[in-house]
Amino acid sequence: MSLVARSFVRVPATTTNLGPGFDCLGLALGLYNELALEMHDDAGDPVIKIEGEGAQALPRDNSNLMVKAARSVIADRTPRRLVFKAKNNIPLARGLGSSAAAIVAGLFAANRLLRKPALSREQLFQYAAVLEGHPDNVAPAIYGGLTAVVKENKDFKFYPLKAHPRLGAVVCVPDFELPTSQARAVLPNSVLRNDAVENISRALLLTPALEKGRWDWLAQAMKDSLHQPYRAALVPGFNEVLQAARQAGICGAALSGAGSSILALCPKGPDAAKIGRAMVAAFSSHGVKSRALVLPIDREGVRVK
Ligand code: HSE
Repeated sequence: MSLVARSFVRVPATTTNLGPGFDCLGLALGLYNELALEMHDDAGDPVIKIEGEGAQALPRDNSNLMVKAARSVIADRTPRRLVFKAKNNIPLARGLGSSAAAIVAGLFAANRLLRKPALSREQLFQYAAVLEGHPDNVAPAIYGGLTAVVKENKDFKFYPLKAHPRLGAVVCVPDFELPTSQARAVLPNSVLRNDAVENISRALLLTPALEKGRWDWLAQAMKDSLHQPYRAALVPGFNEVLQAARQAGICGAALSGAGSSILALCPKGPDAAKIGRAMVAAFSSHGVKSRALVLPIDREGVRVK
C-alpha cells in the first residue's frame, strides 16, 4: 500500500466543571495527544498504532473513538485504508478529557484529509459534542482556553471566556481510573434549590476571578454542591486533598471533570509545585499513589497540519 495523503493534529487535555460549572465550564491544559492520520491507496480495515497512555488498553478496531470519529466524517467518501498513528499523553478515565481528545483528533484529522467541501470548526464542534456527549470537554479541546457551553434545543452554543495570563493549573492524577459513567451514576436527577443557589453564586465569582486574577477568590469560588458531595466517596481522601491544596498556596481546588484527578487553579509560580506536592502527600496518607502535573493553560485548542 502507498500513501495518498497525510494529516497531523495535536489536541489538548481538558478539565471541566472547575467546581461549580457542572457540565458547562471547561479549560484546556498544556498536555497533548497527537495523531498522524494517513490515507493509503488500497482498501481495507483501519490500522491503529498507539503509543503512550492507553497503549495497552485502547481498542485497535472500529470501536476506537478516534476511528469512529474519523469514519463519521470520511467513511462514505472514500473506500481507502486509513492508518492512525497516535501518541497519547493524556491519562485515561482521570477527568482530563481523553475521550474528547480522541474524538476531536479523529474528526479534525479526517476532515483535513478530505478535499472540499470540508466541515467548518463550528460544524466539527457540533459533531464532536454529539459523539462525545460532554460538550464541556469538547469546546476547550477545539477552541482552547476557558469556555462555557450552553445547550439550546439540540444545539450546543460555545462561548469563549477570558483567562488571566498568569493563570496556571496543577493536576493531581491518582493511579486509579474512574469511568465517567460510574461517576455520573451516583448523581441525583434533581437538585435542591439551596444547592443550586450556592453553585450559581460561586460560578458568578469564579469567571471574573479567573479573568482578573483574583486568586484570593478561588478557594471559595471553586467549591461545589451539585456533584462533588456525591462523588467524594469514589475518590479516597477527596476532601483532604482539596484542603491540602488550599493550605499549600493561594488556590482553588475541585474534582477535575468526573474524576479521578483533582485540579487546583493558582497563579503560575513556585507555589504550584508546592500545591502539587501537598496533594500527592494527602492522597498518599489515604493509601493512593498519585503524581502532580504543573501545567500551563492551552490557549490555542486543536492544531491541524
Ligand atoms: N461534566 C462532566 C461530568 C464531565 O462531570 O460528569 C465528564 O467528562
